[in-house]
Amino acid sequence: MTIEDKNNPYIAAYEREKRARLKAEEILESKSRELFLKNERLQESYELLQKQQTAMLQNEKLATLGTLAAGMAHEINNPLAFVKSNIESLTQYHASYARFATFVNSISSHLPDEFQSQLKALQQEEDIEFIQEDLPELMSDTVEGLTRVRDIVMNLRSFARTQSTDRCTANLVEGIQSTLKLLHSELNNDVNLKLDLQPVQDISCNPNELNQVFLNLIINAKQATEGLERPTIAISSSTVQSEIIIKISDNGQGMSKKVLKEVFVPFFTTKPVGEGTGMGLSIAYGIIKDHNGEINVSSVEGKGTVFTIKLPIN
Ligand SMILES: Nc1ncnc2c1ncn2[C@@H]1O[C@H](COP(=O)(O)OP(=O)(O)OP(=O)(O)O)[C@@H](O)[C@H]1O
Ligand SMILES: [Mg+2]
Repeated sequence: MTIEDKNNPYIAAYEREKRARLKAEEILESKSRELFLKNERLQESYELLQKQQTAMLQNEKLATLGTLAAGMAHEINNPLAFVKSNIESLTQYHASYARFATFVNSISSHLPDEFQSQLKALQQEEDIEFIQEDLPELMSDTVEGLTRVRDIVMNLRSFARTQSTDRCTANLVEGIQSTLKLLHSELNNDVNLKLDLQPVQDISCNPNELNQVFLNLIINAKQATEGLERPTIAISSSTVQSEIIIKISDNGQGMSKKVLKEVFVPFFTTKPVGEGTGMGLSIAYGIIKDHNGEINVSSVEGKGTVFTIKLPIN
């Protein structure tokens, strides 16, 4: 700038205006940055809120279903008990009838001809031979069906159980180990088991219920890897800050996004009728919630699944 320029009021005004503009731009930029960060935080809060809302709805839904399940289990349990006891009586009665029929058959040749032919006609008319053959199978199928119904009722009950107060101090790693012992014969033959069990602190919990969770998850993992050339289940335990983290993963079939959304819903199953009740994971979910913990799942179709359990060290 020359002396002439300095004295030029227009140029001086221009310079002043330029400085003011730069300053304003600077302020604007810093305000924009602030706004951007605030917006980002708002977005995060919004997402968190949405997640919490979904979790809350899920909890409410589960609580309602729990009450419903408890009622249903109770209603089904009584008739189930008498149907079961009647079937036992029927089995005994059939044995008596079978003895009687065999005896009648054995003496039929001593009867007068007229009675002999009447007896034969009656036997054919009523298809007695077939009934004798078919009855035991019908009975055992019925007992099997009843056992399945009983299992479902039991599952419903453990899903609906009121908040358990049956707490003691226990160690989760020991729980996993004893669950694995229980599953020994089921797993050892063909599953490659990878354990990374780091020692964890004892916590106050209901160890039976938590073992039930491990059992349900490991059985699911086993079922998901069936038919694979190298089925692998990995189980790990660790401590992060004040939480115990248990991971149960498999290299099985994985889940589609649609299945993934439903896994914790009671009665949701992709297994054929009669093979799964669809209660395993909803029971697990309820138990972990009762322990103020969290259970999450991530899965890739065709690759495998990871279930992560987080439990607070009280
Ligand atoms: N590890 C896994 N890999 C792939 N799919 C899984 C896995 N675990 C659960 N699932 C899916 O979630 C569904 C629900 O599981 P859940 O344990 O609740 O019921 P289920 O195994 O079908 O029946 P149940 O446990 O009563 O015998 C399963 O049918 C399956 O589709
Ligand atoms: Mg299951």
